[in-house]
Amino acid sequence: MTRGTTGTATGASSPGTPAPLRLTAPAIRAFKGRRKIAALTAYDAPTAALLDAAGVDLLLVGDSIEMVVYGAADTLGASLDRMVAHAKAVSGSAKRALVVGDLPYLTYHTTPEESVRNAARFVVEGGCRAVKLEGGSQRLPMIKAILAAEIPVMGHLGLTPQSVNALGGFKVQGRRATEARRLLDEAKKLADAGVFALVLECVPAELAARITEAIPIPTIGIGAGAGCDGQVLVLHDLVGLAAPGARVPRFVRRYADVGAVIRDAAAAYVADVRSGAFPSEAESFAAEPGEAPPVALYAAGEGRR
Ligand code: KIV
Repeated sequence: MTRGTTGTATGASSPGTPAPLRLTAPAIRAFKGRRKIAALTAYDAPTAALLDAAGVDLLLVGDSIEMVVYGAADTLGASLDRMVAHAKAVSGSAKRALVVGDLPYLTYHTTPEESVRNAARFVVEGGCRAVKLEGGSQRLPMIKAILAAEIPVMGHLGLTPQSVNALGGFKVQGRRATEARRLLDEAKKLADAGVFALVLECVPAELAARITEAIPIPTIGIGAGAGCDGQVLVLHDLVGLAAPGARVPRFVRRYADVGAVIRDAAAAYVADVRSGAFPSEAESFAAEPGEAPPVALYAAGEGRR
């Protein structure tokens, strides 16, 4: 059995079994060719615990938080301080999954030194065991510097949302042969530099499969077809936690409708409050038996602070 996996086939923990070993970046890398990697985004402690217990291998504290939690139109405004705080909540709660901090825009675009300092915040303050960053050749000096500081790096090619303005929108990448060749070349360079896994976002399935064959590290696809070594989705897309009418990308498979569950629960609560059905006696407190009722205490002036 691969070091870092649990004793169960799914990797999920169950009561009575020993705490699973934490997955590391090398353990994720070693899954290549052995079994598929299931990754999801996570931004807070309770969902991280649930996803971890479900057997998710890798929890990405993604800068997608800016869109799905904070309601922005893109990821560009994500701040490192805020991301590190969310990372701390996730890594404090996940017992088995590898927690990866997603470096926000402009935290690794200037100098290698600044990039190392920013990446290290995810490790030292956020409790992450790896970071992710977007881009290819132009980011290699920063990637090499972060790796030299002993921080594992996950790459991200294809539709890189932090480049939305340069790309002219959230569009599928690598549909033309020259662009596909460039992406394959970039993937090889990232693998040669030492990244432990590579996210491929919104690229044609054939291209993702070709890249997957060509590099020795796992590819983790999002909108990149079934030929990747693993898959990642944004949790809110997976469970339908979005404002009514929100657009869902075509590559998302919705496994639940948590939005409807929340809306229906809140509507039932509103109705119960208005009708007086909530709270019941069982949901209220009573004075100790034999004690004077609080009303009597107030009448005697004893209940005042
Ligand atoms: O920020 C994010 O959630 C991501 C995933 C979509 C891969 O980068």
